[in-house]
Parts: sequence; C-alpha cells; structure tokens
Amino acid sequence: MKVKILIVLVVVSFLTCLLINCAPEKPEPVRVGTISANEFTPEKWGKVYPFNYESWLQTEQPKPTGKSQYRKGWDTDKVIYDRLSEYPFSALLYNGWGFGIEYNEPRGHHYAIIDQIEIDPSRTSPGGVCLACKTPYHKSFTEKYGMKYLTAKFQDAIDMIPQENRKLGPACIDCHQPEDMSLVTNKFHIEKGLKMIGKNQLSRQELRSISCGQCHMTYYVPRDKTGKVAGDIRPPWEGSSWGNISIENIVKDLLSDFQREEWTQKTTGFRMPYIRHPEFELFSKSSVHWNAGVGCADCHMPYTRVGSYKISDHDVTSPLKANLKACIQCHTESADWLEKQVLTIQDRIASLIIRAGYATATDAILFEMLHNEQKKGWKPPQTLYEKSKYLYKNAFLRLVFISAENSTGFHNSSESGRILGDAIAFAGKAESLLRQMLSQAGIQVSEKINLNLLQYLNDRGQKKLKYKKDQQIKDPFNLQKNFSETL
Ligand code: HEC
Ligand code: HEC
Ligand code: HEC
Ligand code: HEC
Repeated sequence: MKVKILIVLVVVSFLTCLLINCAPEKPEPVRVGTISANEFTPEKWGKVYPFNYESWLQTEQPKPTGKSQYRKGWDTDKVIYDRLSEYPFSALLYNGWGFGIEYNEPRGHHYAIIDQIEIDPSRTSPGGVCLACKTPYHKSFTEKYGMKYLTAKFQDAIDMIPQENRKLGPACIDCHQPEDMSLVTNKFHIEKGLKMIGKNQLSRQELRSISCGQCHMTYYVPRDKTGKVAGDIRPPWEGSSWGNISIENIVKDLLSDFQREEWTQKTTGFRMPYIRHPEFELFSKSSVHWNAGVGCADCHMPYTRVGSYKISDHDVTSPLKANLKACIQCHTESADWLEKQVLTIQDRIASLIIRAGYATATDAILFEMLHNEQKKGWKPPQTLYEKSKYLYKNAFLRLVFISAENSTGFHNSSESGRILGDAIAFAGKAESLLRQMLSQAGIQVSEKINLNLLQYLNDRGQKKLKYKKDQQIKDPFNLQKNFSETL
C-alpha cells in the first residue's frame, strides 16, 4: 500500500514538474576557449561555440520553396522577389526615391551587405550611414570617424572595413558579450531610442527582442536644408514609451520638421519622410504575443538539438519556412492549424494593404492633376489644400508602416488592421477634398482614375528592371476591382 502511495506521489510530482516547467530550459552552451573583447570575426567565436556558429552560417542557404505565401524571400527556387511587382501601386508612390527603383524581399542575414552591394546604387546614395543595420563596425566607426564615415561614398565606407569582414552582416558581436555570451546591442540609435522612451534597464527576455529590434526598427537619416545627410540614423520615437511606440507618435515625429524629410515624391512633388522595417514597433505595441511575454527569439530562434546538445537556432528565418517548430514549443495546436492561422491573418492584412495602397496612389494622381492646374495659374483654396496634404501624408505613412513591416500583419494583426483602416479613411477623406478642389478649378474628374502603373514599373534604374506580373500579390478577397483599376 505504502509503495502504491509513493508511486502515485512520484508520478504526481513528476507531472506537476512537467506542467510548471513547460517553458523549455535555457541551453547550456558548450564552451571550448575564450573570445577576446572586440572580436568581430565570427570564425573566432566559432572556435569557442562551434554549434552556434554552424547554425549561424546557415542563413546563407536558401529556404524551402512554397512554405510561405507572403514572404517569398530567398527560397530554393532562387527567385528574388520584387516588392514593387508584388504591390504595383508602390512603384507610383515611391517614384523619386531609391525604393521606387529596386526593392526586394529580404533574405537571410548572410546577405545583408551583399544585397546592398548588388542593389541599384540609388538605394545606397546616402553613403556610410546606410551601413547602420548591416555592418557590426558601424558603431565603432561612427565613434571614431564621425561624419567622415557617415557621409563617405558607400563603396568608400565599405573599404574602411577590414577586408575579411567587408561582407559581414549581423555578427556575434552585435548580440553578444564575448565573456559570458549575455545579450547586448551594438548600435547608438537603439541606445538613443531607448533613452527617448525612458527605458533604462533590459531584462534577459526583453533583450531577446531588443537584440533583434536594434536593426528591425524604423529610423530616419537626418538631413540638412539641402537634403544632405546630417548625422547617424535616429528613431522617430519622440513622445512614445516602452510597449507603446504608436503609429500616431511616429507620424507626429516624422512630420515635425524638414530634417526627417528624406526624398521628394515625383508624382506629388512633396518632400516626404519614410518608414523602414518597423518589426519591433509593431510587435511591441500590445500584440498578443508581446503581452504574453514572448520575444522575437522565441519564434525566430527556437531551441534545437545538435547531437546531444541544445542550442538556440541561429539560422534566423521565417517560422513558416522552419516548419513552425518554434510555435510548437509553446502551442499544443498542430503545425497545420498554426500555419492556417498565420495565413488567415496575412490574407486579411494583404487585402487591406492593397485597398490602402490604391486609395493613396489615387490621391497622388489627383494632386498631380491639381498641381498641373496650379502651374497654369489657378490657385487652390489654401486651407483645403493644406488639409488634403496632411491627410494624404497620414495615409501614406500608415500604409508604408504596415507594408514595410515584414510579417504581413502577423506580428500584431489587430493593430495592423486598425492602422490600415485608418490609412483608407485618411486617403478617402483626402480624395473627397481633392475632387472638390478640382471641380472648383473646373476639371472633370472621372469616377475611375487611371494610375498608369506600368510607366513606373518598367525600365527601373541601371538594371532596367521590369514589372513581373507573376509576382503580383492579388487581393485574396477579390474586392479591389470595386474601387480602382488594378494591373
Ligand atoms: C545587425 C542588424 C540585424 C540584427 C541584429 C538582426 N537582423 Fe534580421 N535582418 C537584418 C537585415 C539587414 C536583413 C535583410 C538581409 C537581406 O535581405 O539582405 C534581415 C533579415 C531578417 C529576416 C529574413 C530572413 C529570411 O530568410 O528571409 C528575419 C526573419 C530576421 N532578419 C529576423 C531577425 C531576428 C529574429 C533577429 C534577432 C535574433 C534579427 N533579425 C537580428 C538585420 C539584422
Ligand atoms: C509569435 C511568433 C513571432 C514573434 C514573437 C516574432 N515573429 Fe517575426 N514572424 C513570425 C511569422 C509567423 C512571420 C511570417 C513569416 C512568413 O510569412 O513567412 C514573421 C516574419 C518576420 C520577418 C520577415 C521574414 C521573411 O522571411 O521575410 C522578420 C524580419 C521578422 N519576422 C522579424 C521579427 C522581429 C524582429 C521580431 C521581434 C521584434 C519578431 N519577428 C517577432 C513570427 C514571429
Ligand atoms: C541577431 C542576434 C544574434 C547573433 C548575430 C548571434 N546570436 Fe547567439 N544568441 C542570440 C540569442 C537571442 C540567444 C539566446 C540567448 C538567451 O536566451 O539568453 C543566443 C544564444 C547564444 C548562445 C548560448 C547558447 C544557446 O544556443 O542558446 C551562444 C553560445 C551563442 N548564441 C553564440 C553565438 C555565436 C558564436 C554567434 C556568431 C557566430 C552568435 N551567437 C550570433 C542572438 C544572436
Ligand atoms: C513562447 C511561447 C509562444 C511561442 C513561441 C508562440 N506562441 Fe503563439 N501564443 C502564445 C501565447 C501565450 C498566446 C496567448 C493566447 C494563449 O494563451 O493561448 C499565443 C497566441 C497565439 C495566437 C492567437 C492570437 C493571435 O495573435 O491571433 C496565434 C494564432 C498564435 N499564438 C500563433 C503562433 C505561431 C504561428 C507561432 C510561431 C510562429 C507562435 N504562436 C509562437 C505563446 C507562444
């Protein structure tokens, strides 16, 4: 009898232990040596941590084709996907700016600098400052050489990097302290950003997001009055706080002065700010996973076995392409079910991106028509004109925020829906004011506005890039034809 009770007790305590301990334990690194401070070269780190190094090297490899619907980056089909062909309206909206010439889907970390070297040179025209989210040397170069490095021609800045590491992207030193492998950051802009939002201390779990967020966040390249680069990149986080870097605050910050206006939009002639890959901002704005304490690494660097060791997978990629292995470490649902959830969210968000995109592009064409009348001497009513310009920029920045964010809404689906809903509302209101002004100018505007997208999509840049019809992302709900012509 006593033995039975004992067995029951042992089984119960074992099960309780399993239940409480459902979070996977932290892997114990295999350490076979020491790494000197300021060691940039991953091979050297690899001598000490061979398994992590081996898995880090894997970001060079293409990922399985057909697993991801919306993030077809660098897969085994070896096709580089063109974002402007995926979303044709963006070629019109980004016309006048490097992003309107060549803009590809991201691929593995191995290619961070290689892709910059290969892309149309208009994209790297600001110079050294473009290396901010690419080379691990950015921080020390900014400190040592300042503006000489930041404004150096792109190739000259690359040449300042020691030869063996010129093509080195996100490296061990960006995320780790060499003595104990604790997580760190290696960028001034994230330090500035965290200070701006009053965040002084980061827990280990927070670093599991911020070590990624140091690059996967938005920034602007500050400009002087003539449009020249005026310093290192800065986050538009004024007025925000930890867990609440809202699109409203970002837009307010970006529209606050000329330093944030980085380019001139051809169709409208407006000086414009821009938003780049705001993964950290969108994810940390009260998403379900953020609120549950989940970090970027939980989904993109799942624990994985190498022989008898357990490591964090350093082959950072789309969780869909990694068979949702990360998700299953927390969720009891099947990988198929989880994949379906991701795709359902992305279908909805992609549809809204398309709606907001065509609505904003339509406004741009109406501004072009209005400006043509202005050139002929007609004066638009000032208040209405300023208001429509403000509405238009608000629509544009919201659209860019969600389309430049790389999860097609998954990182925070309800916030993405809210932001795109507002983009559509801003664009619609701007359209009605623009039509009102055009009618005052005596111009008949037809119901459907012809966007002539092919003129922006074909023969782009030095490579004369063409529209690739097969890459276009079609409205999953087939509703767009009600609102505008599409390609
Ligand atoms: C030093 C800057 C930097 C850091 C730190 C960084 N990334 Fe990246 N990441 C990039 C760049 C740049 C690219 C795009 C590379 C390209 O397309 O050439 C990228 C691409 C990616 C991709 C797309 C990969 C693919 O296969 O398509 C994912 C996913 C990603 N990063 C997630 C993360 C996560 C998660 C972390 C933190 C563990 C992280 N990144 C840390 C700069 C960084
Ligand atoms: C709950 C899981 C989860 C968390 C947490 C998470 N992601 Fe993702 N991430 C995803 C999924 C799912 C996708 C969509 C992949 C796809 O469509 O192929 C994605 C896509 C991406 C992509 C684009 C991948 C590609 O191949 O183009 C990047 C970059 C990225 N995430 C970075 C981050 C960063 C940085 C963080 C933290 C700020 C983060 N993610 C947090 C699940 C997550
Ligand atoms: C983009 C950021 C990033 C880069 C680059 C990176 N790591 Fe990591 N690494 C992480 C994160 C996040 C963890 C998980 C740490 C934690 O939870 O405390 C980790 C964990 C580790 C660990 C602890 C054991 C484990 O697997 O969890 C080792 C060792 C390690 N990394 C080695 C390396 C080496 C060597 C390199 C370069 C070849 C490298 N890392 C590059 C983010 C990075
Ligand atoms: C570290 C643990 C963890 C990981 C890893 C994780 N999740 Fe979750 N997930 C949660 C928690 C906690 C919730 C909150 C709801 C709940 O308690 O089930 C949640 C909620 C969700 C939801 C419902 C809310 C929503 O956003 O629609 C979906 C869908 C989901 N997760 C999918 C995924 C997918 C796909 C992945 C992998 C890319 C993933 N999760 C990875 C812990 C995790």
